[in-house]
Amino acid sequence: MNWRIFIFVFLATFGISLPAMVSISDFHLLGNHQDYEPVQPIAYSHALHAGQLGIQCQYCHSGAGDSRHAGVPSLSTCMKCHTDVKGSTETGKAEIARFTSMYNKNEPVAWVRVHNIPDFVYFNHSAHVLANVPCQTCHGNVQDMTVVKQFADLSMGWCVNCHRDQNAQNPKLNAPLDCDACHR
Ligand code: HEC
Ligand code: HEC
Ligand code: HEC
Ligand code: HEC
Ligand code: HEC
Repeated sequence: MNWRIFIFVFLATFGISLPAMVSISDFHLLGNHQDYEPVQPIAYSHALHAGQLGIQCQYCHSGAGDSRHAGVPSLSTCMKCHTDVKGSTETGKAEIARFTSMYNKNEPVAWVRVHNIPDFVYFNHSAHVLANVPCQTCHGNVQDMTVVKQFADLSMGWCVNCHRDQNAQNPKLNAPLDCDACHR
């Protein structure tokens, strides 16, 4: 058990309530931060691909509907189009040529991870996607972003408050509020 969880379970035995813990846990001890927008190694734009061109999110993030991780696509997914699509502007052409050569040399892309919850938290995409929570509720309007930016604060309060609201709005849902569901 993680030491922080241990301390909270200890506090819980002395009657500190979940709402109190949620407000305590709104203090971030860990590395997530809202509005984090790292520069990526390839100038890939969601606003162009998911916005203007209207490519479905799950065309590239195919794990979201049936597994824990949404996943980030490999260059072979990009090459399904970019073997033929070589770009129309000077900067676009140069960037497409650059990653095509990376692909041909089998070089991996070191995408910088944007969202990251701590290891002691269990989160599963498919449970949320199957309950029809739109990607945008948690990630914001990614289809308008040139560079992806962290939208939600990913705090414990954020998870628990949504679970409580969703259960109140739809009695058929059973989004968990117990510690064990998210901390296994
Ligand atoms: C719906 C999911 C969810 C539930 C239920 C939940 N937690 Fe958490 N918890 C989280 C997330 C997410 C974080 C990480 C927050 C962060 O990184 O700021 C967290 C963080 C923590 C931390 C680390 C301190 C901190 O603020 O980062 C402790 C301790 C903790 N939870 C204890 C508990 C206890 C005890 C319960 C039951 C009363 C509980 N949690 C219920 C999602 C949950
Ligand atoms: C053509 C492929 C493609 C499509 C379509 C696409 N994405 Fe992405 N997505 C990527 C790539 C590549 C990355 C990693 C680079 C980056 O962050 O821009 C990424 C990163 C992300 C991230 C950040 C991941 C992290 O590191 O935390 C989120 C969130 C995301 N996409 C959501 C979406 C959503 C929501 C949609 C639909 C509106 C979508 N994506 C459509 C390829 C795609
Ligand atoms: C209920 C909130 C929620 C919904 C809905 C959601 N995500 Fe996420 N997403 C997260 C969280 C939280 C993380 C960080 C997970 C981690 O660190 O393990 C994440 C991480 C990601 C990542 C980084 C790689 C990964 O799998 O961890 C991508 C890409 C992503 N989401 C895309 C999507 C797409 C596309 C959709 C819609 C099909 C979607 N997400 C729906 C909360 C959500
Ligand atoms: C479904 C087809 C499709 C997929 C998949 C796709 N693209 Fe594109 N991409 C396009 C089209 C169409 C354009 C516009 C080309 C033009 O301007 O003529 C484009 C343009 C681009 C550009 C140039 C942008 C500019 O400023 O002109 C880059 C860079 C790019 N894509 C990167 C990627 C990367 C990286 C991936 C994989 C994560 C990817 N694309 C996946 C169709 C796709
Ligand atoms: C926008 C609302 C929303 C947010 C934000 C959200 N959830 Fe959920 N969560 C749901 C819904 C809806 C369900 C599905 C309930 C059902 O199917 O009965 C669910 C189900 C779950 C489950 C049970 C299914 C499973 O995978 O075991 C876990 C665990 C869970 N969420 C963890 C988290 C964590 C951890 C976070 C924060 C990092 C989070 N959720 C953020 C709405 C949300």
